[in-house]
Amino acid sequence: MAKTPALRHAETVARLSLEEKAALTSGANFWNTESVDHAGVPSIMLTDGPHGVRKQGGKSDHLGLNASLPATCFPTAAALAQSWDVDLMERVGRLLGAEARGAGVAVLLGPGLNIVRNPLGGRSFEYFSEDPRLSGDLAAGMVRGIQSTGVAACPKHFAVNGQEHLRMSIDEVVDERSLREIYLEGFRRVVRQARPRTLMTSYNKVNGTYANENTHLLVDILRGEWGFDGVVVTDWGGNHDRIAGLLAGNQLEMPSSGGVTDRLIVDAVRSGRLDEAVLDRAVDDLVALALETSSALEGAEPVDPDAQHRAAVDTARRCLVLLRNAPGPDGAPVLPLPASARVAVIGDFAETPRYQGAGSSLVNPTRLDGALGALRSGPLEVVGFARGFHRFGRPSRRLADQALALAGRADTVLLFLGLDESSEAEGVDREHLRLPDNQLALVERLTRAHDRVVVVLAGGAPVELPFAEDVAAVLYTSLAGQGGGTAVADALTGRHNPGGKLAVTFPVRYADVPSARSVAPAGTFPGRERTAEHRDGVFVGYRYYTTRDVPVRYCFGHGLSYTEFEYADLAVDLRADGGTVAFTVRNTGSRAGREVAQLYVAPEASPVPHAATALAGFAAVEIEPGHERRVEIDLDGRALEYFDADADAWRRHGGAYWIRVGASVADVRLETTATVDGDGDADASGEESDDGRGRGARTGSEAVEAVEAVQGKRTEGAYAVGDVHRVGDAEFAALLGRPIPVASWDPRAPLGLDDTVAQLRHANLLGRGVLALLHTARRVLRAAGRPHAANNVMFLVNMPFAKIEGYSGGKVSRRALQRFLRLVRRR
Ligand code: BGC
Repeated sequence: MAKTPALRHAETVARLSLEEKAALTSGANFWNTESVDHAGVPSIMLTDGPHGVRKQGGKSDHLGLNASLPATCFPTAAALAQSWDVDLMERVGRLLGAEARGAGVAVLLGPGLNIVRNPLGGRSFEYFSEDPRLSGDLAAGMVRGIQSTGVAACPKHFAVNGQEHLRMSIDEVVDERSLREIYLEGFRRVVRQARPRTLMTSYNKVNGTYANENTHLLVDILRGEWGFDGVVVTDWGGNHDRIAGLLAGNQLEMPSSGGVTDRLIVDAVRSGRLDEAVLDRAVDDLVALALETSSALEGAEPVDPDAQHRAAVDTARRCLVLLRNAPGPDGAPVLPLPASARVAVIGDFAETPRYQGAGSSLVNPTRLDGALGALRSGPLEVVGFARGFHRFGRPSRRLADQALALAGRADTVLLFLGLDESSEAEGVDREHLRLPDNQLALVERLTRAHDRVVVVLAGGAPVELPFAEDVAAVLYTSLAGQGGGTAVADALTGRHNPGGKLAVTFPVRYADVPSARSVAPAGTFPGRERTAEHRDGVFVGYRYYTTRDVPVRYCFGHGLSYTEFEYADLAVDLRADGGTVAFTVRNTGSRAGREVAQLYVAPEASPVPHAATALAGFAAVEIEPGHERRVEIDLDGRALEYFDADADAWRRHGGAYWIRVGASVADVRLETTATVDGDGDADASGEESDDGRGRGARTGSEAVEAVEAVQGKRTEGAYAVGDVHRVGDAEFAALLGRPIPVASWDPRAPLGLDDTVAQLRHANLLGRGVLALLHTARRVLRAAGRPHAANNVMFLVNMPFAKIEGYSGGKVSRRALQRFLRLVRRR
């Protein structure tokens, strides 16, 4: 057993009373921690967020309801990921850190790096990718950047936040191997590579236990295996059982509980349920964080908003993805537009950009560049602007007719489409993968009338693009932040050559998504009542599409450029602990450009079900026309491993591996195979890696036996071949290694505080009436063009009753809630 390290601030901890120590483990208010003056413990401020500083001057909330001070709004994580550029992430981290520091913020609550398992997940725009390596490495860059300024970063939400529906109660049921390989791997990378000082737990349960009380996640894995030595903070209002949380190593509850949990902690120590040493350790870590970050904030100056804005524009440029660029009638690709082009700018989003998502990450931007303004001040002749459609989906023949008339006067139509603010918000999942009907109808009319329609698409996650082959070009901006408008104009006119690549797959249709199939009553996505079942296991995103050969609209890693690149001279040095893959990329076109070269690795044969391919590394390189660069990608040992759930250990299967290098997961340019020894061989020769290998290292023959056992159990059936839409109950239970947990609510059990407001549907007439009223309120608010307010009604619907007291700031007491629950008892 590892020795527990001595307290770093033992003297300070010794000067604190039990009550003071308990108080330090929860907030003083919404954003600040407690201080204890006589012991020299300062209060520090924690604030969102992932792509801009959301420091609230007046009223506080974590839903983006009340205004925050102006700050630079960088592209959201979904957009940033399209740069595939760790150095850029470090730079953005430094800029965010400097701005936080200048505002007196000690802990910046980001980056968010959960896996984009299903594009309908409401927070997809806040997360990097469907791939854990890309997510983890980018997040690590950002954490290094933020922390280089002395401000602490806070990667979130640990772990498996994949849906917003019932996010405070849903149980994500996921087998251990998929948990390790897909959902935790990004967090492992960020902890190992960047040593974040804090980390935020998610609201949901993971395999039956709330994430913030989950000793498997927090004690065994985060601290035990990965060596995390910072402060774990609850998500806002995410505390469930404070003592269980502290025992699991969740040291800071945010926001303040108004003293309620402080008293529980004091009582628990006095009654012996909580060892005071556990509290002391939590306090020691908190004191260290408060002292270190507050001294780093001394003498900080506010940043120059203009310089930050320029950096936001520059960042946005690197995040744009050119999805399509077909030849126009003259045979040349439609983009970039020549200076002589006469363009009609159509679409509401050209004037009023969609540049960030809603919820706690909402930034009040210092400036906002719209594409229309940027285009008008550029070289093109803009013949006019037409809104084309109502933003929130209401049909309008008049707006569409105006757009068509305008298009007739131009040689190129720049059509700005996208998702509106109500459809991408924390707390609410999207309901479908389509663009609004009024936009689709407009595209159809315009493409029938015009042969040069360029679509500029905004939105933080994939949508179906049924018209993709009918338009000349598609430029995807994702949510590009406050500088996005200028970046778009620069890309369309060729002032900047786009070089971003997709970090998530664009499927042809929603039904193709691996977690799309609904298994009533649980649902794979979203889980509808108690559980969300991960029947898709490790086959998330491109891992599924490539394994099952499912055609996609635009694949993972796809993105075009105004120049072309050739790949040559592959050299592979593969060792058991990783190796190096080197190759040459040559810019064969006539313009400078940026290529994101991607390395994919997969075993030729595997003892466990394995995706056809998996990202093992990447490099973004800028190359002048006619020049070439030798690119070297380090392959870490993890790329050759799978998690053996039976042995609770990472294993390397010996044999041949495919090594593929290319411009996307489908556009493979160089390919070879190489062989490595399995860890059975390595064990036999006495070599054994200790890098995150977990417990349970075994001898060679034991390893071989275990592999055979796994082979016997798991290489048959739908899951074995990645056919995850057909994973039945027996197979899913086998994958889990335990019976499938009960998925549905018990309609006869009396409603309690841990139940959610949504469960009022099992209540008596009064309860059902209250629920119906809430749903009506949502519809009315939506129709009235108040999407954020509408979404916040859903936030309430998805909330457990027990949380209402805290969220209402004590206005609705626990007692009142209990009375209400008695009134609406089940039918
Ligand atoms: C979100 C977190 C955020 C926190 C504070 C929560 O609702 O899930 O991501 O950092 O609020 O605003």
